[in-house]
Amino acid sequence: MRGKLIVFEGVEGCGKSTQIQRLRENLAQSASFQALQAQGIIPELLITREPGGTNLGLGLRRLLLDSHHDVVIAPRAELLLYAADRAQHIEEIILPALDRGSWVLCDRFTDSTVAYQGYGRGLDLGLIRDLNQGATAGLVPDLTIWLKLRVEQGLARAQRRGSQDRMEQAELAFHQRVQRGFETLAQQFPERRATIDGAQPADAVAAQINTIVHDDLAQWYKPFLAT
Ligand code: TMP
Repeated sequence: MRGKLIVFEGVEGCGKSTQIQRLRENLAQSASFQALQAQGIIPELLITREPGGTNLGLGLRRLLLDSHHDVVIAPRAELLLYAADRAQHIEEIILPALDRGSWVLCDRFTDSTVAYQGYGRGLDLGLIRDLNQGATAGLVPDLTIWLKLRVEQGLARAQRRGSQDRMEQAELAFHQRVQRGFETLAQQFPERRATIDGAQPADAVAAQINTIVHDDLAQWYKPFLAT
């Protein structure tokens, strides 16, 4: 059986990385996930991210996020660099993993391009849809978890982490437009999307995500799981 792609999305500092690790820990302790692994149905659980999930992507990530070099990136060039990162990531990592039956937990995916380059930079949403479609070869996530957090709160968290990258340094209004992008996506395409209140304590967020993922897992793998 083909694997599953679970994506984590949200504004800066929303807690994606923490929650991806928490989900990994919870799945490692889950009886049903262990049973599927033991049967070889889910051979591995892979954690990856965009940009930067491949060697090419690491170079692109440095170009896109490093704020110390004097490279100017125009909005449309930025869009194409994120698309190039995704095309490589899909080809090299995500599709082969899904073909093996593995699960892929991905820190950001196509929704980020809609939110950041579409709503944030104001680029044409039709162009972004076409580029996302081209870069992913039509692959859509099985589940997207949106960690919803006020922009000010997320940026403050990101600031406490240390030096800010090129995107984090953008003005508050940019990040507020990005947030509107995530909100619009959640409203327009609620199917296969879960909205979680990211302002809750990390334990509560992790518990909610665990419940949602296990509900889906029970549906997806019904024939393989004993009742
Ligand atoms: P992060 O990995 O720490 O979340 O940083 C990735 C940054 O790149 C973040 O500011 C969001 C931004 N981004 C886009 O602008 N467009 C995209 O398509 C993706 C994947 C990320």
